[in-house]
Parts: sequence; C-alpha cells; structure tokens
Amino acid sequence: MRHLIYNFTFRSLTLIGVILLFNACGSKTNTPDKAQVQAANVVIDTKAYNDSKGVGKFTEVKLEVIDPAKADLGKVVFSTKCTTCHKLSAEKFVGPGLEGVTQRRTPEWIMNMITNPELMMKSDPVAKKLYEEMLTPMANQNIGDEDARNILEYLRQNDNK
Ligand code: HEC
Repeated sequence: MRHLIYNFTFRSLTLIGVILLFNACGSKTNTPDKAQVQAANVVIDTKAYNDSKGVGKFTEVKLEVIDPAKADLGKVVFSTKCTTCHKLSAEKFVGPGLEGVTQRRTPEWIMNMITNPELMMKSDPVAKKLYEEMLTPMANQNIGDEDARNILEYLRQNDNK
C-alpha cells in the first residue's frame, strides 16, 4: 500500500514537472500565431469541386440548355484572348487546362475569374491557390459581361462533348 501511494505521488510530481517544463519551453520558443496555424491547416485541392461563387459582381448566373449560338460567339473571343495561356484539354499550359472547369467551378466563379482575375487572385482562396501553383497571374483581358457569358457557354459545350 505504501508503495502504491509513493508510486502515485511520484508519478503526479513527474507529470507536474513535465507540464511546467513544457510551459517554460513554450513561452521561450516562438509559438506560431493563430492566423499562421489556420493558414497551414487549410488544404485546398484545386482539382476538386468547389461550390463558391468567387468574389466579384456575378452573384447569380442562371443556366439553361447550352445555346450553340452563344458558344460560337464565345469561341471567337476565346481563340483570340485565352488560347495564349489555356488549352481546352486537361493539359496545363501557362494556366490550367480548362477541361472540366464547368464541373469543378460554379458559373459565377468562372465569370468573376474571366472578368476580374486580379480581385479573384487577391480575395478568392481557390484562385489564390491556383496562382501559387501556376506561378503566373492570369491577365485581365478586358472581357465584357456578354463576352464572359458567351465564353462560359463555350466552356460548357467543351465539357459536354
Ligand atoms: C496570361 C495568361 C492567361 C490568359 C491570357 C488567360 N488566362 Fe486564365 N488563367 C491563367 C492562369 C495563370 C490561371 C491560374 C490562376 C492564376 O494564376 O491567376 C488562370 C485561371 C483561369 C481559370 C480557372 C481555372 C480553374 O481550373 O479553375 C479560368 C476559368 C480561366 N483562367 C479562364 C480564362 C479565359 C476564359 C481567358 C480568356 C478570356 C483567360 N483565362 C485568359 C492565365 C491566363
């Protein structure tokens, strides 16, 4: 019995000692602040489906059956302003391959990205992560709302083949 009590006290003291030691060390070393810890914990898979609408003026885009006329108009703009950096396949170029983009992003996100990439890269976590992966910023191509919508239609058509 005495042995047991001794053992118990000894263990408790050891435990307290360890806690004190740990605390003392903790206060000396640089503990990462909350923001750092949070940033390290956020894992973003840029290939995964993301239901965010992004940051920008497009907050609601209604989709209907793909309109081939719109898609054709989108194709014209896409070939002159986007093919320098994007392929329609999954292959990476300067920017990500756009195959499947309408399945991994919402229409609002895509249109916000097309019309205002600077704001998206600054404020949207997925766009930010893509920028880190590609190491090149997406250039603002001064795309108007209607052209952006037509390009979206073209990308939908590309994913619907
Ligand atoms: C100068 C090269 C460049 C041009 C031109 C460009 N982009 Fe990008 N784009 C990028 C890069 C790089 C990214 C990755 C994000 C980043 O770094 O900004 C990107 C990202 C994207 C994304 C998101 C892709 C994903 O996987 O989520 C879409 C959609 C997109 N671009 C569409 C377009 C369209 C449409 C055009 C033409 C109007 C265009 N881009 C023109 C370089 C470009």
